[in-house]
Amino acid sequence: MDTRVTVVILAAGLGTRMKSRRAKVLHQAGGKTLIEHTVDTALSLATPERVFVVVGHQADEVRTAVEARGVRFIQQTEQKGTGHALMAGRESLESLGGLLVVYYGDCPQIPAGLLQSLVEHQSRSDAAATLVAAELDDPTGYGRVIRDASGRVLAVVEQKAGTPQQLAIREGNVGIYCFRADLFWKHVGELQPNNPAREYYLTDMVEILIRAGYEVDAYRAENPSELLGINNRVELAAADRRFRERKVREMMLAGVTIEKPETVSIDDAVSIGIDTVIEPFAQILGNTKIGEGCRIGACSIVRDSELADDVQVGAFTIIATSRVAAGVTVGPYARLRLDNDVAAGAQIGNFVELKKTRMGAGAKAMHLAYLGDSTIGEDVNVGAGTITCNFDGRAKHQTRIGKGAFVGSNSTLVAPVEIGAGAYLAAGSVITDPVPPDALALGRARQVIKEGWARKRKEKAPAKV
Ligand code: UD1
Ligand code: CA
Repeated sequence: MDTRVTVVILAAGLGTRMKSRRAKVLHQAGGKTLIEHTVDTALSLATPERVFVVVGHQADEVRTAVEARGVRFIQQTEQKGTGHALMAGRESLESLGGLLVVYYGDCPQIPAGLLQSLVEHQSRSDAAATLVAAELDDPTGYGRVIRDASGRVLAVVEQKAGTPQQLAIREGNVGIYCFRADLFWKHVGELQPNNPAREYYLTDMVEILIRAGYEVDAYRAENPSELLGINNRVELAAADRRFRERKVREMMLAGVTIEKPETVSIDDAVSIGIDTVIEPFAQILGNTKIGEGCRIGACSIVRDSELADDVQVGAFTIIATSRVAAGVTVGPYARLRLDNDVAAGAQIGNFVELKKTRMGAGAKAMHLAYLGDSTIGEDVNVGAGTITCNFDGRAKHQTRIGKGAFVGSNSTLVAPVEIGAGAYLAAGSVITDPVPPDALALGRARQVIKEGWARKRKEKAPAKV
């Protein structure tokens, strides 16, 4: 028997209970959209060309979220039910044969191991299909699994169609199915929208296959809370918390110290080396890589960045899309805004902002500075209050500061401008012209002294108290 697996993820609905303009599967938990989670789970089971996402509401946005993974799409223009969603894909799916695993795009926590067990169960069984069932504390809204006296599955009855007796059953249809594809396609045409919602229910396939003389198995899941779909933002937040707890725990077991772990957020794709310490309320997001022996200060945010070993990040620091070499210190209260490279041993202090800037090895900017579109040489000292004027109102311009230069406090560097290696800029200068290497540049009004002026003023008109 052909046991190759095709996975179909239904994600054409809007999800009205989210009360959102965005389709439900585009909301995020654990740093990824729901559709990314469900597609990634599918990819643990099947190759990308055998993973299909049924799209409808905001089809383009849903495609964009996952198309880089190489999966395929089925367009369901009108949402006439979960059975109809499969019918919309008949042309692409029928010829693939094997086993057809179907679940919903709003269930981001389905463990890959459960799908594996479901497929194994169906592969060994004579049944036409296996569905995942669970005893639910509150089965309201779920399809109920109807069995005969000997426990054989007879049907799944939807909430809207159930009799009071059927609705008293607590065994619910979780919404994960594995069908024999040949039998599914042979009988799918028998689905009828003969229910109050006028929808083609995928769950009616259970009765149809049984009527055709086959059995349908129910595979019992132990931990139903993680299998259930997300319907509103409260459930979304609960899923988010679970993903984060799992990641933080994984990181701690892998040798990372995390202080007050319940306050820390670490996205799934993040890697962190051993003996790094993460302080409370830090957020480490996106595609971030952190080396060994680092410290990420309290309330700091690191996004899509690479930090080498022994990097010290002070509290309340933000680092985005930047690369930070070994032994660098950043912050507290610093911001590496966009696309920066900070070389080994450099120091970025409080209230310093960097944008598209390369800091050379050992360079320092310890207080209150803005360095944008700049190349700062090795061992340069950037004084407090230094500003690169990189924007003239129309275009951005570059600032270059040569190795070992000294930039006096409160310097204003009007770009484009180049400071030679070893040059010395006097404090408070406005620098508009190139400074040759090893030169002193003064760009400020000369100080004037008037001896005795203050005393004479007091004598003429004594200050009133
Ligand atoms: C479905 C099951 C129910 C099960 C429950 C578990 C059916 C008929 N019922 O009910 O037995 O207990 O899930 O959560 O299947 N979708 C489409 N196209 C459509 C309709 C829906 O892609 O035309 C997608 C939706 O985007 C959604 C998923 O299918 O992600 C489930 O649809 P929904 O209408 O929410 O089904 P439930 O009423 O939850
Ligand atoms: Ca649902």
